[in-house]
Amino acid sequence: MSTTPKNGSGKGNNGTGSDSAAIPPARNKVTTHTFQLRKERGEPITMITAYDYASAVAVDRAGIDAILVGDSLGMVVLGYETTLPVTMEDMLHHCKAVRRGATYPLLIGDMPFMSYQTTPVDALRNAGRFLQEAGMDAVKLEGGRERAETVRAIVEAGIPVMGHIGLTPQKVHAFGGFRYQGKTAEAAQRLLEDAHIMQEAGCFSLVLEAVPAQLAERISQELAIPTIGIGAGPACDGQVLVYHDLLGMFDRFTPGFVRQYANLHDTITAALEAYGDDVRQGRFPGSEQTRYMADSEWERLLEINPQLEEEVAN
Ligand code: KIV
Repeated sequence: MSTTPKNGSGKGNNGTGSDSAAIPPARNKVTTHTFQLRKERGEPITMITAYDYASAVAVDRAGIDAILVGDSLGMVVLGYETTLPVTMEDMLHHCKAVRRGATYPLLIGDMPFMSYQTTPVDALRNAGRFLQEAGMDAVKLEGGRERAETVRAIVEAGIPVMGHIGLTPQKVHAFGGFRYQGKTAEAAQRLLEDAHIMQEAGCFSLVLEAVPAQLAERISQELAIPTIGIGAGPACDGQVLVYHDLLGMFDRFTPGFVRQYANLHDTITAALEAYGDDVRQGRFPGSEQTRYMADSEWERLLEINPQLEEEVAN
């Protein structure tokens, strides 16, 4: 099994056709078809959330396969306690920014609470907006058997759907908190059935969030479509993490299944404190950040406006 990312370093093809080792291989746009090939070849799929232009550029350049514009933005970007207040307009606004920053990754827009739970027709209309208005390649929605009809309606319109089972944060109140799911034999059996139902409904991929590793492994073995795990152990076909969690940018809490690759919250705070100190101490701006006009022009200005000279002198 090869774990080498097919996409190279993310700098793109320079178009020379040279085989110099210094030139990264050309990258292809990742599609739902790429996801399926990865599953068949046993090559892990990488996915990260992103919510704006800058984060999308960074994820793209890192050679990550897919960007999920998750409704987690409600918590990590907008500061809500849960994802429930996030609206379609919030999602489209952020998806458009991500679209402008990312070229190669598969772009998946997360359908927010109440944008698909009412009727399959509402769901289809809202799913369409992600592709038509925001340039996404696919949508994601939460739920199992209760969403099968909705998934079918969206997929029949030609819109790829990623499913999401296990800890589905839009049901946080029904679950009584952000808790692992599928921990009893009955609950695990139900999730296994839900996974099959979502595959049969037409999902091209399935997120498994906060479920026991043995269950995620079994689901991943049984399904033909790729599973993407978050808190679901190492046997999923791919992994996803929230951008702010993996970079240490969210101050409130970090789920136990996250590995922090940086502590940008502390780095950013230290940089901002240094800036504040520099301004207060008169160290910023320095000469490198300052531009002066030519002396001759300044002299001419004083001639044009002699009053200015008096004011400067005072
Ligand atoms: O909204 C989100 O970021 C998600 C991921 C955690 C899968 O749904």
